[in-house]
Amino acid sequence: MDKQTPLVDMRDIHISFGGIHAVDHVSVDLYPGEVVGLLGHNGAGKSTLIKILSGAYQADGGEIYINGEKAEIHNPRDARKYNIETIYQTLALADNLDAASNLFLGRELVTPIGTVDDDAMEAETRKIMAKLNPNFQKFAEPVSALSGGQRQSVAIARAVYFDAKILIMDEPTAALGPHETQMVSELIQQLKTQGIGIFLISHDIHDVMELCDRASVMKNGELVGTVDVNDVTDDDLLGMIILGKRPEGVTVQG
Ligand SMILES: Nc1ncnc2c1ncn2[C@@H]1O[C@H](COP(=O)(O)OP(=O)(O)OP(=O)(O)O)[C@@H](O)[C@H]1O
Ligand SMILES: [Mg+2]
Repeated sequence: MDKQTPLVDMRDIHISFGGIHAVDHVSVDLYPGEVVGLLGHNGAGKSTLIKILSGAYQADGGEIYINGEKAEIHNPRDARKYNIETIYQTLALADNLDAASNLFLGRELVTPIGTVDDDAMEAETRKIMAKLNPNFQKFAEPVSALSGGQRQSVAIARAVYFDAKILIMDEPTAALGPHETQMVSELIQQLKTQGIGIFLISHDIHDVMELCDRASVMKNGELVGTVDVNDVTDDDLLGMIILGKRPEGVTVQG
């Protein structure tokens, strides 16, 4: 994959609910191995924008290109065909099931006689966890017994196992303490080196500065602009988020 073709190119996306322009003609893109932060206040339209990419919502208009080709994403199944995996704001894990059962939820491995192959699923889960999060040991327990960071690593393992090329993470560190946040940061760094592109929704400017290559800021459904995080200060980003002000003397896309 050459660096010139974006993994994802969302162009002029718009959607309204009732009279509200939840996403108002927004264009964002994402390159392989890149993390693009999506920032903005509550209700800015971040989740709605990524739900259009993940097939949860259908846009009223606009286009999505994946690897330079026009994509038709009408439902989550379509999104999976394009190797788009989403980790939602409220982690969709089944609390009463263990890590392996969650990893394979809805896509269970079966034995030749058609029964669910728990041993194979656990073996695969151990393999991927050994790579992603070697400290993870809680294979036998329901995920309700896991910490927030451990739950994140199960969700990330699921995406990676099913060959995500494009990963959408909605507030992955919102409910985590510093240690757990560090763990998720390390996971994200590792996914980058595998060429996975990540849209990362976050309210935390510090996380964005540390983890993201670029940041796209939304306000009231509109794109304020997209900047290279190395070109801006925390205050520049805050000005974009709060005031919708594009920083001066900096290249701003969009
Ligand atoms: N299914 C829906 N029906 C009606 N309105 C919706 C729906 N989904 C989102 N909205 C509205 O669209 C706007 C954008 O919401 P969205 O959830 O995308 O914001 P957000 O930037 O993700 O906010 P937060 O930071 O609080 O998660 C809000 O005004 C919200 O009320
Ligand atoms: Mg949201």
